[in-house]
Amino acid sequence: GKSTSIPEPPGLPFLGNLFDIDMELPLKSLFELAEKYGEIYRMRFPGHTFIIANSHAMVNEFCDERRFPKTISALKEMRHAIHDGLFTEPNWGIAHRILVPAFGPSSLRVMFAGMYDIASQLAMKWARYGKNSPITVTDDFTRLTLDTIALSIGDFLTESGDRARRLPIPSIFYRGKDKKFFGDIEVMRKTANEILQERKAEKNLDTRKDLLSAMLNGVDPKTGQKMTEQSILDNLITFLIAGHETTSGMLSFALYHLMKHPETYRKAQQEVDEVCGKTPIKFEHLSKLSYISAVLRETLRLTPPLPVFNVAAKNDKIVGGKYVVRAGELVIVLVGLSHLDPKVYGEDVKEFKPERMLDGNFDRLNKEFPHSWKPFGNGTRGCIGRPFAWQEALLVIAMLLQNFDFEFDNPDYTLALKQTLTVKPANFKIRAIPRDGLR
Ligand code: HEM
Repeated sequence: GKSTSIPEPPGLPFLGNLFDIDMELPLKSLFELAEKYGEIYRMRFPGHTFIIANSHAMVNEFCDERRFPKTISALKEMRHAIHDGLFTEPNWGIAHRILVPAFGPSSLRVMFAGMYDIASQLAMKWARYGKNSPITVTDDFTRLTLDTIALSIGDFLTESGDRARRLPIPSIFYRGKDKKFFGDIEVMRKTANEILQERKAEKNLDTRKDLLSAMLNGVDPKTGQKMTEQSILDNLITFLIAGHETTSGMLSFALYHLMKHPETYRKAQQEVDEVCGKTPIKFEHLSKLSYISAVLRETLRLTPPLPVFNVAAKNDKIVGGKYVVRAGELVIVLVGLSHLDPKVYGEDVKEFKPERMLDGNFDRLNKEFPHSWKPFGNGTRGCIGRPFAWQEALLVIAMLLQNFDFEFDNPDYTLALKQTLTVKPANFKIRAIPRDGLR
């Protein structure tokens, strides 16, 4: 057939579209350009170009992993931290096959107690704050999610724990030239390595069921190989970085949406009261929290903490029946916008309506419109920590609703975003009003 060129915003002769992007909130610029240039467009920068795919139809094509495998060229800074080995075969395959079961149902059941502990520390802290002091939601959730992943990896590095073992978590998206970034990564690797060496020394006593043990002891069923020490370290660091900001963003956005839509808050709270009553939340309760599950899905649709992932074609390909995508050219799959495609979700697409994400509706959605809901990335390279994040979020939201009602610190607050690599609410402050005694 005939091919058409991909629309491009006009730019400057050498600098291309450099000034079309607001560096503080790049996402916003990409959204605005989509309104003007449509479901697929190309931007030019000195030395490279990239394509932005942003409708459901386009995203659906780019989710064919055989045609468009994941690429990581946009994460150069990350790669300094965690090396290339993590991303490339054979290391990726070995780690992936060992780690999938480590995030499976029986491991998650074991991790529940630790997650519960950390969540209840947060609930107690918020109860102490009481109605009179504002809570900085996103900061508190970030501490919680970091503590939870650290504990699940292997009982270390928590804020509350041993000072000497406290990790500097490099805010990944300090500018790449920032020395502090590389300094923090060094300290992080060093600390992680100490933990690893200590665990190896106690090998015979190692009956623990955490992620570090899973990595040390696991054998890849396909190659019979174990993970190398380097690969274990790389993965430790990846979990710490990938696992906490994202989950904290999901929790913060979920609480925001619930508070902004009091009828959804009441339904969610009623579900917790029916399923858990006033007794401590148990592992078995979580799978019964179907309305809260729908709340989380709808939260990730409207406000995904990671609103993009990247792919590239191995050789030239045609998409949309007419657009040529050149081999190796970076494609940004903008799920933050394809999640707002009215062809999939209807005219009320921008509204927060958890009902559309209840189990039956969610199944139908995924059948009728494959790849329309992609907050966890795609296919084999999708998020390995998804069940972990889900369990933690269900537990935390349920525990908070069981124990508190909330008010916005500023009653006029409307959602503002802050973007590093992940996106989180900015300046979101609340007050917690204990219900009748902590449960
Ligand atoms: C990959 C989202 C929680 C570990 C990804 C990707 C996305 C994502 C979109 C694909 C990135 C890409 O293609 O470039 C999220 C969200 C989370 C979350 C929204 C919470 C709501 C977690 C947690 C962990 C984790 C808790 C670890 C405990 C990973 C790892 C990968 C990944 C290791 C790379 C997988 C691979 O390449 O095989 N995540 N994530 N994530 N995530 Fe998550």
